[in-house]
Amino acid sequence: MTRTHPRVGPLVARTAAAPLDVDALLDDPGTGIIVCCGSGGVGKTTTSAALALRAAERGRKVVVLTIDPARRLAQSMGIEALDNTPRPVAGLVGAADHGGSLDAMMLDMKRTFDEVVEAQASPEKARQILENPFYVALSSSFAGTQEYMAMEKLGQLQRDAQAAGTYDLIVVDTPPSRSALDFLDAPERLSSFLDGRFVRLLLAPARGPARIMTAGLGLVTGALSKILGGQFITDLQTFVAALDTVFGGFRARAQQTYALLQAPGTAFLVVAAPEADALREAAYFVERLAEDRMPLAGLVVNRASPPPQGELSADEAMAAATRLRRDGASATAPLTAGLLRLHADRQRMVEREAALRERFAAAHPSVATAVVPALAGDVHDLAGLRVVGELLADQPS
Ligand SMILES: Nc1ncnc2c1ncn2[C@@H]1O[C@H](COP(=O)(O)OP(=O)(O)OP(=O)(O)O)[C@@H](O)[C@H]1O
Ligand SMILES: [Mg+2]
Repeated sequence: MTRTHPRVGPLVARTAAAPLDVDALLDDPGTGIIVCCGSGGVGKTTTSAALALRAAERGRKVVVLTIDPARRLAQSMGIEALDNTPRPVAGLVGAADHGGSLDAMMLDMKRTFDEVVEAQASPEKARQILENPFYVALSSSFAGTQEYMAMEKLGQLQRDAQAAGTYDLIVVDTPPSRSALDFLDAPERLSSFLDGRFVRLLLAPARGPARIMTAGLGLVTGALSKILGGQFITDLQTFVAALDTVFGGFRARAQQTYALLQAPGTAFLVVAAPEADALREAAYFVERLAEDRMPLAGLVVNRASPPPQGELSADEAMAAATRLRRDGASATAPLTAGLLRLHADRQRMVEREAALRERFAAAHPSVATAVVPALAGDVHDLAGLRVVGELLADQPS
């Protein structure tokens, strides 16, 4: 039997997987961090914001760290200013009665990078780095910087929340990368860039010991200078040397944040579209979390096709459409046949998605799953987020 939601209509039929109990997760005072991961465009930002809102309205003191939310959604949460500061969200329902609150912020990647440099280096050295053209380029465009900075910001929020008691739940959105794994790989990628041969070579004179190295470097930089210009090389060397002195701090903090992600109070939610590629990607991610001993709370299959109304199966609808085309005498017969075929298409889509979810559940039977149907329009305000939150929590048991 198909269940229905008062505002949304028919819901997705039950899946073979254990249902995810979202409210138990949100209400558990032991849940301190929820990280929403997934490949591009699957609904990470929407899910993070919806969970944060629901948790706040159920009485938690929540901050949600969003990344690149759509403009209208950001507006409705009062976080249009890209200033890296959590701001209270207005328009919550019942949160105050339960002692809950919601702050939201949008990650400013460049600002976060600057803050790390400022915290790690002397004012003079920080200025040198921040003004360096390589820094300006690296801090805003290096692959993985956004992921790394999201982690950095999470670490900062967590330290502040612990010190000041401001929040008891941090919900983290992750950047729109191609693969969910990018989030976990970012610190390693940034480290290996800075430990890479090119960077080592540029750092060599500052470190000694070998005259040979210096001579080697002289040859390399000499050649590069000819191609790229002396100023370019000087800038690059100054930058790498300066960054190297602060990077010890970077690395230590990345390790701390990684440890935070492994702590029992952290819950990862993997968001996926009900498509083969997205679910395959979600399966890789689930395996990777297990390898890295990071706590997985469950899978959210978002934008699932809601089943069509009525009990007619796809085959029955197609058979009826064929009969109508063959025998139908009335003027409305072609229209009815068209509607029957549409019904059959939707029914098949729902069955295909259920089969994909079942395949995932068979391979990962311990992963609790929530299925959220596709709403008719985009989710761009608190009312829409509230509906997504209700749908997340309303899983068949
Ligand atoms: N269940 C849903 N029903 C209808 N629309 C949805 C649903 N979930 C998300 N959307 C819409 O899909 C679009 C993409 O969602 P969202 O921005 O949350 O994805 P994302 O994973 O954060 O994307 P990116 O990888 O680009 O950051 C948005 O316009 C959002 O309003
Ligand atoms: Mg997003």
